[in-house]
Amino acid sequence: METRALGAVALGMLLSGAACGGEDGGGDDFALAGGSGATVVDRTATAYTHQIATLDPDTLATAHAGNGQFAFEWELPQLGPRFNNNACVNCHTGNGRGLDEVGANVLTGSQGLVRVSLGSGAGTPDAPGGPVPVPDFGLQLQDHAELGSQEVNLALTWVEMPGTLGDGATYSLRAPHMAITTPDGLAFRADALTSFRQPPAVFGLGLLNAVTDATILAEEDPEDTDGDGISGHANRVWDVASASTVVGRFGAKANQSTLGQQIAGAFANDIGVTNTMFPDPTGATEIGDVSIAAVATFLTTITVPAPAPATAASRAGRALFTSLGCAGCHAPTLITGAAAIPALANQTIHPYTDLLVHDMGAGLADGRPDFLATGTEWRTAPLWGLGLVQVVAPDAGFLHDGRARTPEEAILWHGGEAAAARTAYAALARSDRDALLAFLASL
Ligand code: HEC
Ligand code: HEC
Repeated sequence: METRALGAVALGMLLSGAACGGEDGGGDDFALAGGSGATVVDRTATAYTHQIATLDPDTLATAHAGNGQFAFEWELPQLGPRFNNNACVNCHTGNGRGLDEVGANVLTGSQGLVRVSLGSGAGTPDAPGGPVPVPDFGLQLQDHAELGSQEVNLALTWVEMPGTLGDGATYSLRAPHMAITTPDGLAFRADALTSFRQPPAVFGLGLLNAVTDATILAEEDPEDTDGDGISGHANRVWDVASASTVVGRFGAKANQSTLGQQIAGAFANDIGVTNTMFPDPTGATEIGDVSIAAVATFLTTITVPAPAPATAASRAGRALFTSLGCAGCHAPTLITGAAAIPALANQTIHPYTDLLVHDMGAGLADGRPDFLATGTEWRTAPLWGLGLVQVVAPDAGFLHDGRARTPEEAILWHGGEAAAARTAYAALARSDRDALLAFLASL
């Protein structure tokens, strides 16, 4: 798997604010999904691979170096000893989604991974307020190893669950079942809480990083005072660098504070490459802070693809997206705050997320709390670039574990605070369902 070259192509493709007026109304220019400086026109398999066109030469050079680290395939002795895969890019190919595949038969490594912990009170958390690690296993299972045997074997199977929509049309949802065994063939300890994750895409993260805490907290409505049935709240997580509790942003439960921490954690846990933030027990490190910062610059400066030009169907779908209540969580517009890179600062963006966690019901629950996110709560998935998910990664699925094969299946899995929106969708006439799906495909 190779990474794509950066740079030049983005230059000529960058949208200029003047060229595409706000034809979708409301004074908002939805075409500029990533704001005026971090949006790119590319609806092909390279859509998630462009850097901001206006980067100064030093930052661009750092981003290139970071891309090199992202693509680098680690080998012994730095790799492992236990790992899920040997390179960032092997799980986030084309900076897009990975697949849900796991297992020792996968050559370089697995793309999906399983988080584990014990119930609160069953031990001491690694970080204040965080999940309790499983002795000998930590907070993540590694199903590959270079030396000795991997700590677990994973086998994923699916159970089909047929259903019927309001107009009699039928569908089938598939529920995942993950069998976890130790190398000696025994079942993994039954008291462990487990949660399977598919790798998400990694574009637009610099913009989400630049949304201020105040903006995120303003979206909170924990007591549902506006009575819309939606009561999301921010996750509050441990930030290693500042040794304090902060608003969480990244990961499927918003359990990571900053991009830097997410990246350092991925090196340590996914690839087994230790670093200053997550050293090995002796304090040894295998990658330096400068390299990790370069990866952060690389990811921070990846642009967001512009949506496809609006059609009559996608315009109707956008209106349904609001009237069905989808926008109550998938916030169409956020405004970023200060940022060192001008193209990320004070931008009106269209990520379709409030960055809050919401109760999504029993069907999607993993039963594994992570800081303040409960076993039924998930961070609202950003929907920008959604129509390109399977252009970039044809076999990737939707939702945190890839269980939904289509956006429609993802909607039909919604429950909890989103139950009313799901019910409203299921009751739509076929033409209205098609319009909503056309809108999602245009993103
Ligand atoms: C084994 C596959 C795998 C590898 C290797 C991997 N990741 Fe990930 N990555 C994931 C999964 C799965 C998630 C979702 C984690 C979660 O929700 O808890 C994720 C999440 C992320 C996120 C958060 C995105 C968001 O929207 O919240 C970033 C950023 C990221 N990875 C960057 C990296 C970097 C940088 C590397 C290399 C150092 C890397 N990943 C290596 C699988 C992988
Ligand atoms: C109560 C909040 C809430 C409401 C209302 C809601 N969603 Fe979601 N949506 C979420 C969350 C949280 C996720 C991520 C769930 C997961 O990963 O398991 C999600 C995931 C999705 C996904 C999958 C995205 C991906 O990256 O795989 C799609 C598509 C989607 N929602 C569309 C909709 C549509 C369309 C509606 C209205 C009919 C809607 N949602 C209403 C919270 C909501």
